[in-house]
Amino acid sequence: MSGLRIEGCTVAFGGLRAIDNVTLAIPEGTITALIGPNGSGKSTFVNMVSGQIPPAAGRILLGGGAITGLRPDRIVHRGLARTYQVPKVPKELTIEEVISVPLRYARSDRPLPPGVRSAADLARYCGLRPAGGTRCGQLSVSDLRRLEIARALACRPDVLLLDESMAGLSLEDTEQVIALVREIHAAGVTVLVIEHVMRIIATLCRHAIVLNQGRLLAEGEPQRVLTDPDVREAYLGKGFTL
Ligand SMILES: Nc1ncnc2c1ncn2[C@@H]1O[C@H](COP(=O)(O)OP(=O)(O)OP(=O)(O)O)[C@@H](O)[C@H]1O
Ligand SMILES: [Mg+2]
Repeated sequence: MSGLRIEGCTVAFGGLRAIDNVTLAIPEGTITALIGPNGSGKSTFVNMVSGQIPPAAGRILLGGGAITGLRPDRIVHRGLARTYQVPKVPKELTIEEVISVPLRYARSDRPLPPGVRSAADLARYCGLRPAGGTRCGQLSVSDLRRLEIARALACRPDVLLLDESMAGLSLEDTEQVIALVREIHAAGVTVLVIEHVMRIIATLCRHAIVLNQGRLLAEGEPQRVLTDPDVREAYLGKGFTL
């Protein structure tokens, strides 16, 4: 297991600082929430730490070692995997094909979830039915979100970043994905959950981070963060109750 820490990181798009001199930690062994209004920089944070958009300033540490400026595939090898808010899977491939690629190239010295040996096992672990050669273009939103998680798990991460994995799901599907996240965490993975439903954050997470306009607004225990006056003002609304 290993935690993630970013120190003084900035990502700018022209004049817009999507991440603005942010220092924060995702403690090892936690399920941590990353919350904040639309456009506050949450997905940019994921793009930054996973190497898609390297920071213009600052340091990123994974398990105590610097990963700043490394290529995305090197960062995966160091133990970090992510999902995409808008699922990115080739429509013409099958579930097993999508999972097989990272499974084949990931470092084999890291464990897979208990009982998982193949792409089909990993699909089933995430609640997918891989049989029948269904193409990804035919999958529902719920299955696409599960496939994103399965593909990330195939990288055998120590730290897993989930960018709105429950968005657009039914209540029942949401409960199933929550159970899956708990299981992944119980198997030893540090998890970051980006989510707009505060009930999920409050029940699932031990640590919470709030971004607002690219800046760190609050960090700490979820019950405390969700009652913070600045967080209510910027994000939740004054009448917010859990
Ligand atoms: N590739 C890009 N080029 C230019 N601007 C970008 C790019 N990616 C993000 N932005 C801008 O950076 C800001 C942060 O966007 P980001 O997608 O990180 O927000 P978010 O917190 O994930 O929002 P949401 O909750 O809607 O997913 C926004 O103003 C967005 O328009
Ligand atoms: Mg986003």
